[in-house]
Amino acid sequence: MGTRPNLSPLSIAVVGATGMVGREFIDILQQRNCPTKELKLFATKESAGQTIEYQQRTITVQEMGTGCFSGCDVAFFSAGSNISEEWAPKAVTEGAFVIDNSSAFRMKSNVPLVVPEVNGHRIPKKTNVQIIANPNCSTIQLVVVLKPLKDAFGINNVTVSTYQSVSGAGKLGVEELSNQTLANLNDKDEPLPRVFPHPIAFNNIPQIDVFEDSGFTFEEKKIMLETQKILEIPDLDISATAVRTPTLNSHSEAVWVELKKDVTRDELIRCLENASGLVILDNIKNSLYPLNRQASGKDEVFVGRIRKDFKNPRRWVMWIVSDNVRKGAALNGIQIAEKLFSLS
Ligand SMILES: NC(=O)c1ccc[n+]([C@@H]2O[C@H](COP(=O)([O-])OP(=O)(O)OC[C@H]3O[C@@H](n4cnc5c(N)ncnc54)[C@H](OP(=O)(O)O)[C@@H]3O)[C@@H](O)[C@H]2O)c1
Repeated sequence: MGTRPNLSPLSIAVVGATGMVGREFIDILQQRNCPTKELKLFATKESAGQTIEYQQRTITVQEMGTGCFSGCDVAFFSAGSNISEEWAPKAVTEGAFVIDNSSAFRMKSNVPLVVPEVNGHRIPKKTNVQIIANPNCSTIQLVVVLKPLKDAFGINNVTVSTYQSVSGAGKLGVEELSNQTLANLNDKDEPLPRVFPHPIAFNNIPQIDVFEDSGFTFEEKKIMLETQKILEIPDLDISATAVRTPTLNSHSEAVWVELKKDVTRDELIRCLENASGLVILDNIKNSLYPLNRQASGKDEVFVGRIRKDFKNPRRWVMWIVSDNVRKGAALNGIQIAEKLFSLS
């Protein structure tokens, strides 16, 4: 486990507590022994009444209602954009910082969009109660690698192609892949797609979220715009293609990044070795490179297959993998809260 700064006990709310990301929030808070005065868990009416064990307490899941955030220091939201739009401002009014996993507020100019090891300086003072946005899962793992390269060598342009697992679409996404795979392998009728636009079992689907007029999907737009905002390069030349793959967890990315300087592979590796939050797994002789199953459950972003491009000596190609539910969502939110509450 990562290290945790000293914190005084917090009153915490998790909205979407029964979901993929919500459950991960609860697990990580326990794993990091987060000093907790109170934990409130919120989900839909259907889940209200379920109980979840946390730090030797049994906590009952509730529906949200007026005043439910009063007394909370921080509320982690992971119940989708509509819920965040409606309830996050209310939580702030009731005195809680909101760390929001949805895309509702990410691109608002007055809302910090934060990956602590990349732009931790954007975390507000703890007297300034407000919404802080957690970036898209694919953006987080990308910027953890791009930031040290930007600082050391400058970046001209970035191209990224993602290979995103079904857990990125929540618990129903995981269910859909599992049910379709089982049906296919057992020669049964395959359940119709509900979460994804086509059967995900044994398919790659080059569509995540809806298409925009530009021909890019909303997911691709999020990756491009959020990367520009977090790296503070508003005109960064970046292009993304996002693909859903029939993998259960962790997202992978093939990334091409053109630097502003000529560098050797050793210099580039040394730069990444000194960066926080990432691990280099790169030994092609032994077929060592990041993989979904190895990255799942881990805190770090993993990078490998680092090579100079064939024709352009300033362009580098790499393979980046990270647990989308963990560093791509819940862990990043908790790391924001840890920094926030240890700030004076
Ligand atoms: N999964 C990822 O890798 C990932 C990464 C980054 C960001 N996110 C974002 O995190 C959010 C949640 O994703 P997820 O993957 O955890 O989805 P999920 O597994 O489908 O879980 C959704 C959660 O939201 C709750 N919820 C839905 N409607 C609600 C309502 N009206 N009131 C209260 N709670 C409600 C659900 O409660 P019930 O169980 O009662 O239905 C459940 O707890 C989304 O905004 C997503 O874009 C996800």
